[in-house]
Amino acid sequence: MSAKKVRVAVLVSGGGTNLQAIIDAQRSGVIKSGEVVLVISNRQDAYALKRAGSAGIKTAVITKQDCGANFENRLISVLRENGIELIVLAGFMVILSKSFTDTFKNRIINVHPSLIPSFCGEGFYGLRVHEAALEKGVKVTGATVHFVNEIPDGGEIIEQKAVRVYPGDTPERLQKRVMRQAEWKILPKAIEIISERIKTNERL
Ligand code: GAR
Repeated sequence: MSAKKVRVAVLVSGGGTNLQAIIDAQRSGVIKSGEVVLVISNRQDAYALKRAGSAGIKTAVITKQDCGANFENRLISVLRENGIELIVLAGFMVILSKSFTDTFKNRIINVHPSLIPSFCGEGFYGLRVHEAALEKGVKVTGATVHFVNEIPDGGEIIEQKAVRVYPGDTPERLQKRVMRQAEWKILPKAIEIISERIKTNERL
């Protein structure tokens, strides 16, 4: 068994509060089997890039505007060049093709801001998920971390946590509560679980 940490890449598109939770969890020792060595954004202006920079983590920007049809090939090259063993989608607003997910089978995980199978799949991302939950009138929502396959939000579930909805909640308030109470906890936890598994059983 290798003592070396699993090399993790985090893919982002926006604010990066989940990335921050991962960085904090590395510092506090919640994540000890893996190490974030690369942050990739598909948007040049993602604040997550600043968070990565402040933590001294290498960054890359790969956009569809620049790469066109080569977007996924470019992603794959950069992931391979950096020896990435686990890919974490943390607010990465791109749907990946079957060819991409097959290339990294059981090596991509995603955080989604609802209790899958509710409020998930194509079109359900960010605030829209919470708007849909409030429209439906659910009293409990939450977050899910799951493996990524070719079906949007369809891969095997790794961790889930429930969060209470309160009367008068707005999508923004609910989003913050789901992040604070669920996403920022279960994502680092899942990274540790899967990194540990890769380290002990499945290293290539
Ligand atoms: C998070 O709530 C994440 O669960 C969601 O986007 C937000 C990103 O926030 N992801 C999706 O909706 C994916 N379907 P962050 O950039 O602050 O981590």
